[in-house]
Amino acid sequence: MRMLGSQSVMSSRCPRRQRPRHMTLGPTTLLVLVVAHLAVGCTGVPGRQTSSGPAMTGPLIAASATMVTAWEVPKTPFADASLGPLPLSDEIKRGFRIFTDTPREVPQLAPGGMSCSNCHMNAGQREKSLPLVGVAGLFPEYNRRAGRLFSLGDRIAECFLRSENTTGGTLSPEELPTPTSPEVLAVSAYLTWLSRGSEVGKNPSWRGQNTIAAAALIPVEKLDPRKGEAIYGDRCVTCHGADGQGVAIGDKKAGPLWGPGSWNDGAGAARIYTLAGMIRYSMPYLDPGNMTDEEAQLVAAFINSKPRPVYPYKDRDYRTEKLPADAVYYSQP
Ligand code: HEC
Ligand code: HEC
Repeated sequence: MRMLGSQSVMSSRCPRRQRPRHMTLGPTTLLVLVVAHLAVGCTGVPGRQTSSGPAMTGPLIAASATMVTAWEVPKTPFADASLGPLPLSDEIKRGFRIFTDTPREVPQLAPGGMSCSNCHMNAGQREKSLPLVGVAGLFPEYNRRAGRLFSLGDRIAECFLRSENTTGGTLSPEELPTPTSPEVLAVSAYLTWLSRGSEVGKNPSWRGQNTIAAAALIPVEKLDPRKGEAIYGDRCVTCHGADGQGVAIGDKKAGPLWGPGSWNDGAGAARIYTLAGMIRYSMPYLDPGNMTDEEAQLVAAFINSKPRPVYPYKDRDYRTEKLPADAVYYSQP
């Protein structure tokens, strides 16, 4: 999604206007499908929520919504009239841009070309896609991987280092993002704005929903990646490609699921159950929520059996807490 100012953000509600590029056969059919749905839902009036807008669950786009809503952002700082010409307003807007278009805004921090919103879909405002509305007020919070209290800034900095694989780019260790880097502060400003009106310390009902129930977890050694590969070929390959690098669908392109451009092996998504929890409720994008717990775990086991960048500081993780069994890129005891 390209976002330069309020106008382009608002008009991005209506993807029909965007011309598809780099189309190949499979996704063309897909795009036709997506556009056909949109013709019904899109009024062409920028910024106005109509009765035919996306299905919502509270402030979030409903988990059942399909890829036709991929371009929707329920709440953007560009449409918030209460944000005056204060420096903080600019910071909130910058944070929004970084979150939704990380590689363009801060290429040095996103060497693989993935945006925060690839995983936290619709700018962190989609149900069961790791939504971040109302989450800022829960920090500081204990982080098990680090074994210490994490501020929101700590959390965001780690997302850059691991999910965005900043450590795999060109920055020297001293230049890596910290909780007080300008980019991290800008994203903090956006996420804090997104939590305005939420109760501090109260878990919103939509937090932590991307998990597979403990009773449904299958031991990692019983998850056969070859079975996952077959599911991938059936239900994911049209959009993610046989090489896992993502296929352009209009101006949307999923990030690399493995290989040098993907999240690194110290990321949350490099854990099988964590990745399965994401996939189970948000993918496949035209039919989200319809995989079984087992299928989601198998396909996650396949994706996390692939090579990905190495996070260089894994030895500092899980020194207080027990290493989780699904952290498959760590040396298990
Ligand atoms: C590859 C997918 C992926 C990408 C890309 C990604 N994240 Fe995350 N993020 C996750 C997962 C998975 C979690 C859940 C916690 C975990 O790591 O186990 C998470 C958790 C978070 C949390 C904590 C949420 C909570 O409820 O406590 C924040 C804040 C966050 N991410 C911000 C970001 C930001 C900012 C970026 C971009 C710089 C980003 N994420 C990029 C996958 C991703
Ligand atoms: C209809 C197209 C489509 C299908 C089918 C699909 N995806 Fe996606 N997927 C996407 C798009 C597009 C994104 C980026 C999300 C966004 O930016 O809104 C994405 C994002 C993801 C992400 C987040 C990280 C990234 O690489 O962007 C994962 C993980 C993922 N998909 C896994 C799967 C799996 C596993 C399947 C099959 C079970 C699947 N997807 C099927 C289109 C699809």
